[in-house]
Amino acid sequence: MVRPKVFVTRRLLPPYLEVLREACDVEVYPGEGPPSRMELMEKVKGLDGLLCLLTDKIDGELMDAAPKLVVVSTMSVGYEHVDVPEATKRGIYVTYTPGVLTEATADFAWTLLMTAARRITEADRFIRARQWKIGWIPTFMLGSGVYGKTLGIIGIGRIGAALALRAKGFGMRCLYYDIFKPPSEREKELGVEYRPLDQLLKEADFVSIHVALTKETYHMIGEKELRLMKPTAYLINTARGAVVDEKALAKALKEKWITAAGIDVFEKEPIDPENPLLELDNVVLAPHIASATMEARSKMAEVAAKNVVAVLKGEMPPFLVNPDVLKVRPLDKARRV
Ligand code: GLV
Repeated sequence: MVRPKVFVTRRLLPPYLEVLREACDVEVYPGEGPPSRMELMEKVKGLDGLLCLLTDKIDGELMDAAPKLVVVSTMSVGYEHVDVPEATKRGIYVTYTPGVLTEATADFAWTLLMTAARRITEADRFIRARQWKIGWIPTFMLGSGVYGKTLGIIGIGRIGAALALRAKGFGMRCLYYDIFKPPSEREKELGVEYRPLDQLLKEADFVSIHVALTKETYHMIGEKELRLMKPTAYLINTARGAVVDEKALAKALKEKWITAAGIDVFEKEPIDPENPLLELDNVVLAPHIASATMEARSKMAEVAAKNVVAVLKGEMPPFLVNPDVLKVRPLDKARRV
């Protein structure tokens, strides 16, 4: 039997290659950045499986160029870059990598929160600019306390819940908003109370976003929402840039409707050099690295590879996005090895 062909759109951390090579012929894109659209259109022609990243747009046109494709495995928890209904229609399994990046991402949201609250990046810039001339000043670089404050979590899925557990150690009151309300035992275990979004925004000292980007969550936090927040409040975003209206956020930070923000994700990545956030001191910026630990990125690659191999073996992949695909192309028809 011919081994199925799999293309991986970037070099990843081990041991994903061993996992793939057990069952497939593998080609890995050698570039530092993503393949161009043209390169990807060309590459997918003879593919059975594609292991991609959130920087690769996987739409109907690309799928049409790949008549043999049965699995698109994204190495990410977000999958808004994959047109899932188009994949399902064509019998293409779409898989993702939830769970293995939860703790890393929650750690990073917490890091942004603390960094913004205690002005670490401002302090670092200040000292490197050789501006530290007086040893200790009682009123200098004052930030906000975190202990005992109120945290508002938008989206209480895996990562939002992991953030709530961290907040417990800081004696925080924890509010959440979500369209899915967890059972009350789960609320108790996490120590969280539900609030409608507007109410959460009014009450919270720190607001952290943990929702997927969908039509419903696009610009969910805009001018109106930012104006509801306290002038002493902070906004943290490690989810997707487009959940926040970035122009409104820049205005809110500039005009001090809120105190500061910590932002890891942007409407356009890499960030536009003209982005007004770059001019502001009261925002901590990071280049989409919330899951960037050796442990998380290695596991994400391994899980993405296992998802591919499972489908090509005709087995249920560990993390399937579109279970309806089973009706279009049952697993035994997806099997290639
Ligand atoms: C990263 O942003 C991911 O979706 O995994």
